[in-house]
Amino acid sequence: MRIVFADLATPKSGAYVVLFAEGEALSAPAEAADAEVGGAIRRGVAALGLKGKSGDMLDLPTPSSVGYERLVAVGVGDPAKLDARTAQNIGGDLYARLAKGELKQATIACAAPEGAALGDDELAAEIAYGMKLAAYRFGKYRTKGPEAKAPTLANLRVLTGSAAAARRRFGVLDRVADGVYAARDLLEEPPNVLYPESFAKRCEELKELGVEVEILDEKAMQKLGMGALLGVAMGSARPARMAIMRWQGKKGGAGPLALVGKGVTFDTGGISIKPAGGMEDMKYDMGGAAAVVGAMKAIAGRKAKADVVGVVGLVENMPSANAQRPGDVVTSMSGQTIEVINTDAEGRLVLCDALWHVQKVYKPSAVIDLATLTGAVIVALGGVHAGLYANDDDLAAGLLAAGEATGETLWRMPLADAYDKQLASNIADMKNVGGREAGSVTAAQFLKRFIMDKTPWAHLDIAGVAWTTKPKPTVPKGGTGFGVRLLDRLVAERFES
Ligand code: BES
Ligand code: MN
Ligand code: ZN
Repeated sequence: MRIVFADLATPKSGAYVVLFAEGEALSAPAEAADAEVGGAIRRGVAALGLKGKSGDMLDLPTPSSVGYERLVAVGVGDPAKLDARTAQNIGGDLYARLAKGELKQATIACAAPEGAALGDDELAAEIAYGMKLAAYRFGKYRTKGPEAKAPTLANLRVLTGSAAAARRRFGVLDRVADGVYAARDLLEEPPNVLYPESFAKRCEELKELGVEVEILDEKAMQKLGMGALLGVAMGSARPARMAIMRWQGKKGGAGPLALVGKGVTFDTGGISIKPAGGMEDMKYDMGGAAAVVGAMKAIAGRKAKADVVGVVGLVENMPSANAQRPGDVVTSMSGQTIEVINTDAEGRLVLCDALWHVQKVYKPSAVIDLATLTGAVIVALGGVHAGLYANDDDLAAGLLAAGEATGETLWRMPLADAYDKQLASNIADMKNVGGREAGSVTAAQFLKRFIMDKTPWAHLDIAGVAWTTKPKPTVPKGGTGFGVRLLDRLVAERFES
């Protein structure tokens, strides 16, 4: 879908979309269109009892006397509450409506209603951004049937009083959408196509944007002593990889922000094998890594003035004659030993070596890891919030705020020594599981043992939000790309000079 911005006097074609606010307050373009079609908007709004709430939609065929074939009036709700997120959702709902049928073009007149919380150019850019996020589809493996056909809507013209400013704003948002799309592509790709080596290749594509990319193979990881990550990889015919991506949009300063992602390209559970039902969803067990790659793409794409290093630990967790066993003891890169009680608690084993490596080599000013780490966080928070654990209140506050601003919301969970005791092992420094109680917390406590003194650190358990069966206006069902917008916003607010 090609999106262009133009001024309000531009001729309309295809579907012409106008806005109206609560209290049946038609925007100026809506008034003008209403006059053009003999008052059909006002009559329609009254007949259907539409109040101008956000999400209200009136879709009218038009007489041949006007240049466009459909007139769509869209409610934007209370102007005072019309912020960026609301505008994105309006765009998402609008896209769903316009993508049905055979429509090829649409023109949207974006004039902010009086008292709106954002200006004309911002409204235009955010609605377009919402439409772009909603338009994501993963069609590459469909060969027939209606689903194989891409929507016909190919051209979107967004009209606004300040087209140049809207174009500039959208240019930035569109780079973030690129990051979200990249993450969703990685998530949806099936596990026979996306495995550690092919995932690493996708990371290398970021070089085009000026990102430095280094790939560690198994030999390199062996040399570094990453026994915990390599233990997980033992059962798979696909060799493990670690990808390290650096965007240096500013030089000097306190050390980069480090983003670390769990990239288990498929999690069978290993010898502690999972039940068959729903196991296919474990292709999404690289959701943390996808978020890191997507965020790096967004940050580099919009040339953020920030120093960020992204690390993803890439493994496939399989049962086989070579697989690690429950009871094995592995030595992590940090030197700490781990008794592997359950081979299905593999994410923490992958992350602990990635976390240690990034701290040792890059001396980051803060570390954030993202992982589809535990089923327990889904029990606690469902698909609404991701679990946030942090050893630093300021970093936690920044993340919580970025979550609210982007709709990728977090809920802070506790860390405490009392939980840490659950990880005691009879023969090694720790076990990799802490028992049935507080499963998401003990997983975080495990990771905390691999955070060096004083490094501000946050862990996001995204198991409940990395994919969804319940689509939202800007998030189609499937892999969500959760984390990309959140991290991009955090970088913009806290790590850019
Ligand atoms: N990848 C899973 C966690 C998961 C489960 C993510 C469901 C998304 C949906 C993780 O590797 C895992 O298997 N965790 C175990 C830990 C347990 C063995 C301590 C779990 O949550 O059951
Ligand atoms: Mn597992
Ligand atoms: Zn897993």
